Amino acid sequence: MKNRITELLDIEYPIISAAMTWVTSAEFVAAVSNAGGMGVLGPNAGQTEKSSSPEDTAERLRKEIKKVKELTDKPFAVNYIFPMGDNTEDPFTNAIFDILVEEKVKNVIAIGQKVIQKEVIRLKKHNINIIYRDLSPTVQKLVEAGKSGVDALIATGYEAGGHMSDYKISTLSIVPQVTALVEIPVIAAGGIIDGKGALAAFAMGAEGVYMGTRFIATKENPASEATKKAILNVKSEEFIEFKSGIGHLRTIPTEAGKKAFELINQGKPEEAYKYYGNGFKVGMLDGDLVNGTISLSEAAGGIKEIKTCAEVINEIMNTLEK
Ligand SMILES: Cc1cc2nc3c(=O)[nH]c(=O)nc-3n(C[C@H](O)[C@H](O)[C@H](O)COP(=O)(O)O)c2cc1C
Repeated sequence: MKNRITELLDIEYPIISAAMTWVTSAEFVAAVSNAGGMGVLGPNAGQTEKSSSPEDTAERLRKEIKKVKELTDKPFAVNYIFPMGDNTEDPFTNAIFDILVEEKVKNVIAIGQKVIQKEVIRLKKHNINIIYRDLSPTVQKLVEAGKSGVDALIATGYEAGGHMSDYKISTLSIVPQVTALVEIPVIAAGGIIDGKGALAAFAMGAEGVYMGTRFIATKENPASEATKKAILNVKSEEFIEFKSGIGHLRTIPTEAGKKAFELINQGKPEEAYKYYGNGFKVGMLDGDLVNGTISLSEAAGGIKEIKTCAEVINEIMNTLEK
C-alpha cells in the first residue's frame, strides 16, 4: 500500500502505534516497525521509575533510541511535547530536541495545545518529519496547523485513550471535516482497534491510523498483565470520566479512579490529582488496579484477544486490501 503517509515515513503500512506515557518501550516500538508500521517512543519509554530532571529524561530517551536502532533498521518516531500554556520554552523540550538531533531521529509525533512555530522551524532545519497531534483538536485548529509547515496531522476523536480533548468531537465527526479542508495528509486516531475501524478512517479521507489502546493489548507492550486482562474484560459502558489537568480522563473504575471522579465532582481538583496524577504508571505499568488508573479508548470493549503487534497490523492490512 502506498500513499502520502507511507511515502513520508518510508514505511510499508500506514499504521502507527501511539505515543503513550509509561506503556511504550524499545522492544514494543521495534515490534511495530518490524511488522511494517511505525512505532513511537512515548514519554517514560522503557522506564520503571520517574526521571529527576530534563537531562536525566533526555539521557534515558537516548538509551531507548539506541536500543530501538539495535532491534530494527526500520523507521520509528519519538513523542515531542511542544511547550504548553504561555510558555514558548520548556527545558524538557529543549533537552529532548538535542537528543533527537544527536541521535539523528527522523520522525516526531509532536503534541501541544497549538503549533509552536519556532519548534517547527528548528525541527525542520534538521529535516525531521513532524506529525502534529493537537491535544484538544477542533476543525479550525487543525486547518491552521495544516498551514504551519508540519508534514502531516493526526485528527484525534474523543473516543481516544489517554488525556482526551476539551471538546467532545468524535472521530467520525472530526476526521472527514479535517480531510476535506487541509492539503497535507491526515491520520485518524481515537477508537480504532481493527481493520473495520481503519477502513472507516480511510473512507473519511484519512491516509493513516494512529492507535493506542489496541496496541496496549499486545504481547510486546510493556503494560502489566493485569492491565491487558482488564482490557479484555472491560465493557464500553463501564468507564468513568472526569476533567483532569489536561483535558479529560477516561478510566476503568478502579478505586483511585472513582475517588478522583468523586473529588472532581466535589470541586476539589488538587485532591483528585493525588489519585490520578501518577495513575498511569501505578495502574497500567505496575498493574495495581486499586491505586492506579487504566486509561483506554471506549472502543476497548471490542478487544477480545492479546495479539502480537504483527497480528494487529496484518489483520488491518488484510481488511484494507480486500
Ligand atoms: C495510557 C495512554 C497514555 C497516553 N499517553 C500519551 C502521551 O504521553 N503522549 C501522547 O502524545 N499521547 C498519549 N496518549 C494518546 C495516544 O497517543 C493516542 O492519541 C490515543 O491512544 C489514540 O486513541 P486510541 O487509544 O483510541 O487508539 C496516551 C494514550 C493512552 C491510552
